[in-house]
Amino acid sequence: MRIAFFEIKGWEKPFLRRMLKEHELEFFKEPLTLDTANLAKQYSVVSVFIYSKITRELLKKLPKLKLLVTRSTGFDHIDINACKKHGIVVCNVPYYGENTVAEHTFALILSISRNIHKSYLRTLRNDFSIEGLKGFDLMGKTLGVIGTGHIGLHVIRIAKGFSMRVLAYDIHPNTVAAEVLGFRYVSMEQLLKKSDIITLHVPYNKHTHHLINKHTIKLMKRGAILINTSRGGVVDTEALIEALDSGILAGVGLDVLEGEDLIKEEKQLLYDKANLEKLAQLVKDHILLSRDNVVFTPHIAFYSQEALERILATTVQNIIAFLRGKPENTVVVNQQSS
Ligand code: NAI
Repeated sequence: MRIAFFEIKGWEKPFLRRMLKEHELEFFKEPLTLDTANLAKQYSVVSVFIYSKITRELLKKLPKLKLLVTRSTGFDHIDINACKKHGIVVCNVPYYGENTVAEHTFALILSISRNIHKSYLRTLRNDFSIEGLKGFDLMGKTLGVIGTGHIGLHVIRIAKGFSMRVLAYDIHPNTVAAEVLGFRYVSMEQLLKKSDIITLHVPYNKHTHHLINKHTIKLMKRGAILINTSRGGVVDTEALIEALDSGILAGVGLDVLEGEDLIKEEKQLLYDKANLEKLAQLVKDHILLSRDNVVFTPHIAFYSQEALERILATTVQNIIAFLRGKPENTVVVNQQSS
């Protein structure tokens, strides 16, 4: 079988070659998009990461495709309905280690609560003064967790280690976990009103698009902190900037950003007048990121050695299971709304 891997880093190749040695593998470092579709048209099995945009239009150019394996948990970069229509099985990596993203969530929380980012920049300038660097304790504070799936629950486990109070909101509450871990489900409104720190762990879909917006932000406690390691589109960037300006939000920790892929293609955008809307998003992103009470990491919450190894192992398992006629970790259409 000929298998194509997109968005592959050098160190991943030997592992994949070793695990799939009876197959012919081709590696591409670029994402699979309309521009690179030609590279994939001969393959019935293709693996991608999140910067490959698998649209209806792109699928028309891939007539041989039978299995699409994304090396991620989120699959909002793939038009699942269109894949279904073309008879393409889509698999993801549902559990590569919820601890990895949860630990990064706390890296962002602690950076904000103890001004780590500001201190670091200051000491680089040989300035060891402490004015303006007073932080706050996590112990006794209320953490609001929106989305209590794999990652959200692990965030709660860690929060309990910090002696935080935890409130949660999920469209499918896990009452057993609430009992065992000692947290309480409330309405989203209650969570926003009562939490000192709010952290987002929902998938991105049409129901969660701009879940945090001008209206929901108004419900938040003045001086609250917002953390987003889910997907950029869950938060309205403009509303976020306004909330920071007005002081409703005292700090923001982001691993994801609405239009984050635009930053990578920034220069190209400048020369294309058709991209005014994208440019506007880009400007908003820069306004947001230039603030000293915003900590941003470039979508690396998943990016630990251990997690990457688990992602590759599950990807290989997904491919083998499909070739044996028993697909595993398949993504189904209605999952996008949950
Ligand atoms: P999961 O599927 O285990 O949990 C998602 C939870 O969100 C579920 O409990 C679901 O019921 C809940 N949910 C769905 N829609 C909701 C809504 N409208 N309101 C409230 N709750 C809702 O997913 P997991 O593994 O916890 O991951 C969550 C998200 O984190 C992924 O979908 C992905 O987008 C993002 N992620 C980000 C990474 C990064 O590197 N920054 C890495 C891995 C995942």
